[in-house]
Amino acid sequence: MLKKFSENDLYEAKEYTPGEEIYEEALDYLTFWDSVAKSEIEWFEPYREIIYSGNAPFYRWFLDGKVNITHNCLDRHIESKGDKTAIIWQGEPENEKEMITYRELYQRVCRFANALRTLGVQEEDVVTIYMGMVPELVVAMLACARIGAIHNVVFGGFSSKALSERINDSDAKAVVTMDGYYRRGEVIETKRIVDKALEACSVESVVVLERVGNDVNMVDGRDIWWHELEEGLADECECKALDSEHPLFILYTSGTTGKPKGVLHVHGGYNVGTHITAKWVFDLKDGDVFWCTADIGWITGHSYVVYGPLSNGVTVLMYEGAPDYPQPDRWWSIIEQYGVTIFYTAPTAIRHFMKLGEEWLEMHDLSSLRLLGTVGETIDPEAWRWYHKYVGSERCPVIDTWWQTETGMIIIAPLPGITELKPGSVTLPFPGMLVEIHDEKGNPADIGELVIMNPWPAMFRDLRGDPRRFVKQYWTSDGKRTYYTGDGARRDEDGYYWIIGRIDEVLKVSGHRLGSAEIEGALVSHEAVSEAAVVGKPHEIKGEVPVAFVVLKKSYEPSVELEKYLKTHVKNEIGSIAVPEKIYFVEQLPKTRSGKIVRRILLAIEKGEEIGDITTLEDVTVVERIVNVKGAK
Ligand code: WTA
Repeated sequence: MLKKFSENDLYEAKEYTPGEEIYEEALDYLTFWDSVAKSEIEWFEPYREIIYSGNAPFYRWFLDGKVNITHNCLDRHIESKGDKTAIIWQGEPENEKEMITYRELYQRVCRFANALRTLGVQEEDVVTIYMGMVPELVVAMLACARIGAIHNVVFGGFSSKALSERINDSDAKAVVTMDGYYRRGEVIETKRIVDKALEACSVESVVVLERVGNDVNMVDGRDIWWHELEEGLADECECKALDSEHPLFILYTSGTTGKPKGVLHVHGGYNVGTHITAKWVFDLKDGDVFWCTADIGWITGHSYVVYGPLSNGVTVLMYEGAPDYPQPDRWWSIIEQYGVTIFYTAPTAIRHFMKLGEEWLEMHDLSSLRLLGTVGETIDPEAWRWYHKYVGSERCPVIDTWWQTETGMIIIAPLPGITELKPGSVTLPFPGMLVEIHDEKGNPADIGELVIMNPWPAMFRDLRGDPRRFVKQYWTSDGKRTYYTGDGARRDEDGYYWIIGRIDEVLKVSGHRLGSAEIEGALVSHEAVSEAAVVGKPHEIKGEVPVAFVVLKKSYEPSVELEKYLKTHVKNEIGSIAVPEKIYFVEQLPKTRSGKIVRRILLAIEKGEEIGDITTLEDVTVVERIVNVKGAK
């Protein structure tokens, strides 16, 4: 018998969530997804078949259906909810705020869709969006989707180099950006970063939103102000009836090679999956003010700031700035001010606020909250209980949600009021999802790699330009086409899932996904560096931080200055989030006889742990020499 976690028994909302029997019913997953797709989403033309698996793992869902995600996020709400607030926007400066109704959002999206058209943007053209957290970012995404263009949002914290790589790789036709935005009271000069990026690639047009009024350089014939482009354009724009499988967006994410992967999602399935998970996992009600703190530059922002909540017609809160600026109570004051009811954030933020102290929460009335969510990394039971006690006043269930950029939607999470909670566990798979754990041989086990056994509507469809990597990296080649997540997990005696962490060389730094190989690539691109290995060192607040071991070229000597230069170099190549906390200069890296770097040993050295078996190394003396370098620091 499960021990009931008391607050879960108190939770009674269950406005839209189904009963416990849904778990059983949804085992017949195709019937389940079919009924969700039919009852929750409006189709211009019904689909003929639920799924096509003939070319697996290139699954296709809702065959020949005609749909457009923006119709479900906007048009269908206008009649009943036109005057309802769709977006509450709070700028970092306290006096800057905006309330946008569903009707206004619809009109702004239409107008900008017309604007994109005047630039010659057509179906399947890629538009790169590089902006801070402002409503126009949402407008730009929805405008692309409305006309069948593909958006590629690049996180505002990425450097010009990372931006140009993404523009190039996705073959973008246009860039939508802004003059700048606020972060910790400073102006981030976004347009300047775009200008730098465009030295290394080219696009036909750049649309620039005026936000802070800083000086920007406008290139004739290429750059145009958002407001000038929109002049005289209509606020109606026909919603294109697109094929269910029409591409919606590309979002780059990190993997085990140096090259980010362009994860591709499509209109129909992604709409179905994000809609129903948002509705049930967060138990959405009409009067909710839903705040997902993720930046839209990451998948969490795509699925649960924009598409999932808007498809459900709830009010979404967006905040531009830093969580603890100008004071550590900024988030809590926003919750109080706007009566946020559902709050979805990452464990790294929770740990940060734990450290800052409860007094910052106690200053505010957080009684509007009724449900709390978390995502991005494992939440340890201590942080879970703190979140539950101090943010949720022991009233709100803490809903831990497991998923990935590739899955598009939440895959494992409790259903509030139905699934009993256990602090630190992501609990049970969402209805319609068949999840298992496999050992190294691919046999079911209680501890091993988390795998997904069935296709699901919001699954990614491909990696842009690299279908071979898509097939090889994620799916078994047997007839079952099992999806391998890259996460280690265990299942307890109640069948509950506990996520252990990545089993590959992917790091989670403050919830942001980064590849060791990507940071290594950035280091090696510096003229002084011959080889580099990066490991993720556990960090109290950030979860993990990158630590680098670097072999210099012969003519270079280790120095404090060089370490600084290399850190700046990584910042320029990728962005601040990727900068190693520490760089050790070593003579050699531990490698197997076949030349593979054994990062496990470096991590053990960094953590001061038992190093374990080193007999497979080509040269075992390397280990001692690295230990000495580290010891000398
Ligand atoms: C990790 C973020 C533990 C996991 C939505 C996964 C989690 C990676 C959780 C995907 C969770 C996400 N508990 N770990 N609740 N949620 N992860 O693509 O390692 O940025 O593979 O998507 O985050 O990161 P991504």
